[in-house]
Amino acid sequence: MNHIPVLLKESIQSLNIKNNGMYIDATYGCGGHTKLILSKLGNYGRIYAIDCDIKTILKHKIIDNRIVYINNNFSNLKSILDNKIGKIDGILFDLGISSFQLNNPQRGFSYMFNGPLDMRINQKKEETAYTLLKNINEKKLSEILKKYGEEKYHKKIAYNIKKYILHKKLNNTQDLSTLICSINKKSKFKHPAKRSFQAIRIFLNKEIEELKKALNNSLKLLKKGGILSIISFHSIEDRIIKYFMKKNSILYKKNIHHKLPLTEKEINNFYYKNNKIKLKIISRIFPSKKEIFKNPRSRSAILRIAEKI
Ligand SMILES: C[S@@+](CC[C@H](N)C(=O)[O-])C[C@H]1O[C@@H](n2cnc3c(N)ncnc32)[C@H](O)[C@@H]1O
Repeated sequence: MNHIPVLLKESIQSLNIKNNGMYIDATYGCGGHTKLILSKLGNYGRIYAIDCDIKTILKHKIIDNRIVYINNNFSNLKSILDNKIGKIDGILFDLGISSFQLNNPQRGFSYMFNGPLDMRINQKKEETAYTLLKNINEKKLSEILKKYGEEKYHKKIAYNIKKYILHKKLNNTQDLSTLICSINKKSKFKHPAKRSFQAIRIFLNKEIEELKKALNNSLKLLKKGGILSIISFHSIEDRIIKYFMKKNSILYKKNIHHKLPLTEKEINNFYYKNNKIKLKIISRIFPSKKEIFKNPRSRSAILRIAEKI
């Protein structure tokens, strides 16, 4: 199945594309969001399309001289685009992995297909899910399953993963999925292995650290009035984005809460006077029922939008 871009219209609308603006699609994937940006961009506009997965870029590359492809990690945004500090009109993140990656059994992301225990988003990295599970100790693994998967049976699953891998009985995604299903019995709504697979993937790819770094770098690259739009798919990421936006915006400054201005004009004046505040929160958007019906993958998505001030 092809990748269907999530919250496509909403996220691109939020970027308020300027004819000759400069944009970053920090998670190019199959190019769905980039394509829509391109359709609104004039001849002198630019899109910096980033993805750390070279196979994804090569497979979905659109030939257009307004796109600059960058095969790198989005946490390196600032060093890659150092000469663009304060010049970017909008940055979009559509976090996680695409259907192109998820549905390829060889990538090892899915509990639905059998494949190697790989799970690397960036295939240049050496460590795979298999080597991680083999080398990590039981206590740490249990913590990861709890922290990044909010898995109720984290201790039992960690114990069994270590036991099976030691006896060479855990060799592929099917073995892992079967093992988890034998501990966490099938629920009506979610596959029992979903949470553990998510946790291992997040930890292996350092997704949380990467996101935190990328958020801070984005602030430096955006120009005044530039837009930061981020689509996330699970509560751990969303909490980080929400906290980051609040921390850098007026609402979170508890010490000035009592002085919170009231009118739109007063709020704008306040933003411009207070140079510690870097963002203005614009909105938070969820997919419509229609979108969820058409693309069930979108059901857990949240789009958060903020403006650099
Ligand atoms: C959900 S997909 C994006 C789909 C895209 N918006 C589209 O419409 O086709 C996320 C993409 O981000 C990439 N990605 C994930 N983490 C990354 C990171 N730390 N640095 C760069 N790319 C990353 C993945 O390889 C994947 O292709």
